[in-house]
Amino acid sequence: MGRIAAAPPGLRQRVTERPRRMRRTAALRALVRETRLAPSQLVLPLFVTSGHDRAEAIPSLPGHARLSTDRAVAVAREAAHAGVGGVILFGIPDTKDEDGRGAADANGPVARTLLALRDADVDLVLMADVCLCEYTTHGHCGVIRRPRAGRDLEVGDVDNDATLPIIGEAAVTYAAAGADVVGPSGMMDGQVAAIREALDESGHTQTAIVAYSSKAASAFYGPFREAAGSAPAFGDRRGYQMDYANAREALREMQLDVREGADMVMVKPALTSLDLLARARREINVPLAAYHVSGEVAMLEAAAANGWIDRRSAAMESLTAIVRAGADVVLTYLAVDVARWLQEK
Ligand code: PBG
Repeated sequence: MGRIAAAPPGLRQRVTERPRRMRRTAALRALVRETRLAPSQLVLPLFVTSGHDRAEAIPSLPGHARLSTDRAVAVAREAAHAGVGGVILFGIPDTKDEDGRGAADANGPVARTLLALRDADVDLVLMADVCLCEYTTHGHCGVIRRPRAGRDLEVGDVDNDATLPIIGEAAVTYAAAGADVVGPSGMMDGQVAAIREALDESGHTQTAIVAYSSKAASAFYGPFREAAGSAPAFGDRRGYQMDYANAREALREMQLDVREGADMVMVKPALTSLDLLARARREINVPLAAYHVSGEVAMLEAAAANGWIDRRSAAMESLTAIVRAGADVVLTYLAVDVARWLQEK
């Protein structure tokens, strides 16, 4: 009485489903792996600047630097050798102005580096980010409408429609310099349509557009802004980048961009948007990219440097999750390392 009876000898609970069978050996696990990463789906971001033989390290992004054109070509060659699929260029100009006109400068670092990469015949898809924030004195992604005297500049003063012609011009500059794909990242309404029109009118009908459609106002862009010197001088970007709380709006942004002519849409940041990638995979029929952004990589690097996580395993797990969620293409600062690890296997 009051005692729990021991199970009769010989009687065991009958297990009818045994998924562990397929995990038994490394060969079995490799055979049935559902998500496979390939180097060719990785895109390496590069920060390009003026000068020669210049590489200024970016402390928050270990292994990355602001590169002069010649050094960027050398890094791109290594990436191509590792099997990486493409590079995306961000410009660090020598001077900035109020309207970010430097973005469209045919002598700027992005256009120069594109030309050099073309000349070097590097086997990579060449992408160029199209945004004004690296080129404006105030660091916002658009032109600022002058407020009435006596009033301070506000984020709401970022003038959507006045920004469009400048990014259209920038896209044409990059297309002329050899970009295969241009990527508007400023979250201005109508930016994809404006760029498509500018490209078509200038004869660049074969230049593709990857739209940063679902780009959240995120805390994870910190290291990028340090690298690019593009932190907003006042306010923040919440007047144009999306609220990270909104999933339906993210889908709407992607649908609008497809309608405006986007050849590929992007979700950003990646790891905080896996649900958006999964939904987009079902509802959007153009290729889907995810940007594993600077802050996501910085967290991983910092923890790994402290010995708190294993860098390689954490990197592979992160990128596999992004692809499992639905991304076809992943932009990541880890592209070269990951491509090499994949080649080893
Ligand atoms: C430019 C742009 C940013 C990033 C990509 N394009 C910065 C921003 O929006 O502030 C961030 C990428 C990263 O963090 O790696 N608008």
